[in-house]
Amino acid sequence: MTGADPLASKRVVLGVTGGIAAYKAVELCRRLVDAGAHVSPVMTEDATRFVGEVTFSALASEPVRRSLWGGPEPIPHTRLGQNADVVVVAPATARFIGCYAHGISDDLLTATVLATRAPVVVCPAMHTEMWEHGAVQDNLALLRRRGVVVVPPAQGRLAGGDTGVGRLAEVDDIVRSVRAVLGGPDAAGDLSGVKVVVSAGGTREPIDPVRFITNRSSGKQGHALADAAARRGARVVLVTTTERPVAAGVDVVRVDTAAEMEQAVLSAAADAGVVVMAAAVADFRAKAPATSKLSKADGVPDLVLEPTPDILAELGRRRRPGQVLVGFAAETDEVEDRARAKLGAKGVDLVVANDVAAPGAGFDHDTNAVTILGAGGGSTRVGLTSKEAVADAVLDAVAECLSAGPEGPDERGARRAR
Ligand code: C5P
Repeated sequence: MTGADPLASKRVVLGVTGGIAAYKAVELCRRLVDAGAHVSPVMTEDATRFVGEVTFSALASEPVRRSLWGGPEPIPHTRLGQNADVVVVAPATARFIGCYAHGISDDLLTATVLATRAPVVVCPAMHTEMWEHGAVQDNLALLRRRGVVVVPPAQGRLAGGDTGVGRLAEVDDIVRSVRAVLGGPDAAGDLSGVKVVVSAGGTREPIDPVRFITNRSSGKQGHALADAAARRGARVVLVTTTERPVAAGVDVVRVDTAAEMEQAVLSAAADAGVVVMAAAVADFRAKAPATSKLSKADGVPDLVLEPTPDILAELGRRRRPGQVLVGFAAETDEVEDRARAKLGAKGVDLVVANDVAAPGAGFDHDTNAVTILGAGGGSTRVGLTSKEAVADAVLDAVAECLSAGPEGPDERGARRAR
């Protein structure tokens, strides 16, 4: 982190509700205090069944509050809500989310989030079945529309030995999201104020209403790029085919087909400073998808394919002065040569060459190994590492292009090569 910590001297209300992940809120509390924040903990009755209130009282800046009644202050929720710079609820149960979405203030925490004008960061944690329930998702969508920042749960081990989505986000991710909320768009970061559009995932091209052509892209690298750009201060629009979680503050546009992706990317790119096409866009689609399910009884269908629009090439044609364009080249053979050819063919500043056949690299892995090729002939090799680290390396190259100023990729690249 560069510059002052946005958490320093900030008043944080930390709401803890009754889920097994309440024990992780202890670490969160400690991290917020260590960063210089004044933390006022509020626990629900059920939270105290998982973690003792003494633990939070000892670590936080004030003793735990649990109730609207019986304390020294007659109206604790208004004072807490009015004084807060941010309210963080971690873990947030389905009950809390439902009450908050519907304005039901049946305890001190729900009353506080309704009484505050400060930003609210909600970190859900629950079993996969509950997380995926329409009621929970609708309530979260409602909260998001009202400006609440939702830090989505991660995938992993859950209570009772189950595995799935629903685990509280990592404490690091929660702290990062709170910092981003407090720091606002001008938070210290080399992409501060820059609009960055990222595409992610593999497109799905229908053959009939139930079948489609797609590829193995998981969207992990694109999502890591969107998260990293947001952390570095960018305003991020992520056009994705996947339901993967994203960092707080990233605007998500969900699409399926190359045509939908084209429309979303071109419209978001019109005023963007940077566009990173990490998506694996299908190269071909069915020329005339069947309107009803193709039946096996009718025999093998003649599938006529046509090319999809090349979004990146279109971006290259429409490029605004100073706009930085980044493509990905997922190849299995002659990786660098083919990637280099794309630099010119698509008129982009950078191509990230990705040998998707190499061990640990490419589709669906958590790791990747790439070579970042510049239009002027320069290249940076990034050995096998996390997709997050690859994302930062790509954004380092993007930041370098941005600082080079509003000139075409050839001249910019030539300058870098000199
Ligand atoms: O030409 P090729 O498909 O290998 O180029 C890959 C790059 O072009 C990726 O950045 C991908 O997102 C982008 N692309 C695109 N539209 C397509 C196909 C690929 O924007 N139809």
